[in-house]
Amino acid sequence: MPTPIVLDCDPGHDDAIALLLALASPELELLGVTTTYGNQTVDKTTANALRVLELVGRTDVPVARGAPEPLVRPLVVAAHVHGESGLDGPSLPPPSIEPIATPALDWVAGAVAASTEPVTLVPTGPLTNVARYLDAHGTAGIERIVLMGGAIAEGNMTPAAEFNIWADPEAAQIVFDSELDVTMIGLDVTHKAVTGPDVQRRLREAGSIGVFVAELIEYFTVYHRQTYGWEGAPIHDAVAVAHVLRPGLVETKLRNVEVERVSELSLGRTVVDVWRRTDRVPNAHVGVDLDANAFFDLLVERIHDLG
Ligand code: RIB
Ligand code: CA
Repeated sequence: MPTPIVLDCDPGHDDAIALLLALASPELELLGVTTTYGNQTVDKTTANALRVLELVGRTDVPVARGAPEPLVRPLVVAAHVHGESGLDGPSLPPPSIEPIATPALDWVAGAVAASTEPVTLVPTGPLTNVARYLDAHGTAGIERIVLMGGAIAEGNMTPAAEFNIWADPEAAQIVFDSELDVTMIGLDVTHKAVTGPDVQRRLREAGSIGVFVAELIEYFTVYHRQTYGWEGAPIHDAVAVAHVLRPGLVETKLRNVEVERVSELSLGRTVVDVWRRTDRVPNAHVGVDLDANAFFDLLVERIHDLG
């Protein structure tokens, strides 16, 4: 029985790869895609989700437009990483299809109600949609949340904070306070999923979609080469999807996570009580390690299956 999921994303290069992995994996039933601002404006991330679905002939998958901005803070997008379109690099025509007219929250509520199995939410962007959904509809029918975001150690938007959490820390705290089964796939894990020349080669040999993914990674590498000196890019969001379809790739520890929402210096930091120094209640399965080789084997195999 495939796991029903909703991918809430801000494509974004790694979101696009996460979407392709979800589409290629029979272990998952992608009920639909909801979009958020983040890597770019929600108009652009929505268009990018549609472009990727069209590329692989999956226009049957509904795309519902979500939040245009954070709950209370000003909108900041990551054009410096993902480019003006949010999916710079490969040439991909603008979408010829539209998102559904139903707003994201209403569509998720309907999808959850109609699902015969509890639904797993896989957010790979800022958590504004998820927080607003939980506020409006509660946790009924939600199996768990497996999110890409946060970090035990250093951040990537500031020294202290990872982008998805930093973009809307208030939303992130709502998610960690939800008492749902939450898994945090943070930078500590996704920075182990940095592509190298061998993965790039294998993707290029995996077919036309593999070439597209390799071109996405080539562009995504520019920022990471300049910032970290890496000859590759971390496929952050695909690790979250991989964790749902292949338990065991990511090692997690059940710990307390709180989000800094006051300090300017460390705004958006996920404070993970790794060594249980406080009596704060553990509220998330926090990613601490990744079998990177197995992850890339899975990714290349599934991208190959897309043709
Ligand atoms: O910090 C990495 C996260 O921010 C990824 O989800 C990337 O797509 C951006 O949204
Ligand atoms: Ca993302």
